[in-house]
Amino acid sequence: MQHGRRTALVTGGARGIGLEVCRQLADRGLRVLVAARKREAAEEACRTIGAAALPLAMDVTSAKSVGEAVGEARALAGGIDVLVNNAGVSLDGQLRPPYVDEDLLRATLDTNLTGAWRVVEAVVPGMVESGYGRVVNVTSSYGSLSLMDSGRHPAYRISKTALNALTRMLAAELAGTGVLVNAADPGWTRSGMGGPSAPRGPEEGADTPVWLATLPEGDGTTGGLFAGRRPLPW
Ligand SMILES: NC(=O)c1ccc[n+]([C@@H]2O[C@H](COP(=O)([O-])OP(=O)(O)OC[C@H]3O[C@@H](n4cnc5c(N)ncnc54)[C@H](OP(=O)(O)O)[C@@H]3O)[C@@H](O)[C@H]2O)c1
Repeated sequence: MQHGRRTALVTGGARGIGLEVCRQLADRGLRVLVAARKREAAEEACRTIGAAALPLAMDVTSAKSVGEAVGEARALAGGIDVLVNNAGVSLDGQLRPPYVDEDLLRATLDTNLTGAWRVVEAVVPGMVESGYGRVVNVTSSYGSLSLMDSGRHPAYRISKTALNALTRMLAAELAGTGVLVNAADPGWTRSGMGGPSAPRGPEEGADTPVWLATLPEGDGTTGGLFAGRRPLPW
């Protein structure tokens, strides 16, 4: 069946890897909803992307903010076909297991796990209804259980392990609906989080998320974890 222009929503889309994901999706002909906590930041990002980009204010730690932003997105663009859960924080200090900073753990999970889940809850039922969707959870190799060789960055890493689990569960629940759900590790990338010494630029960091966000019609790739467009061990 023919479809009109696809619409993508990218959380944390006004800077870093998210901004580059927005640019690349717009280059591929999608309409892009650029979400940032501050509307002005989203507006500024949209100016640099062009007419395909529309700004949204969304804080993923607030169900109210997510609900209002997704309502506004639907009013602006109709349905949402592609969701890139890119918003993330890395807050860890020096504490490692057996020591725990509970407030920091909660704050990290609230953005990196529950935040993504809130947006999924607001957006994915519409995808199922339309019979098409691409969900990309931006994770990290740091969350891979097979790479847990130290207790460094415990809250961040556990939040990404949990996001990976959500990816698997959601993919299983949505099997056969036309909605594909995958996790993408951008690799160590120059950004606010990655810092200036990272080996990858944002173009390379955005490549795997964008590839998964634009899997063609009929592609069955779902429930996977990928880095550099290749499977990564869970
Ligand atoms: N850079 C790396 O080396 C690397 C490696 C592996 C994985 N990742 C993952 O890639 C993703 C993007 O990271 P980045 O490197 O581009 O980091 P960044 O430059 O620090 O950007 C973080 C983004 O997350 C958004 N964000 C944070 N808290 C939010 C909230 N409560 N609600 C909505 N948005 C929120 C920020 O939005 P505002 O503009 O509103 O602040 C910003 O756009 C993250 O999920 C990160 O874990 C990064």
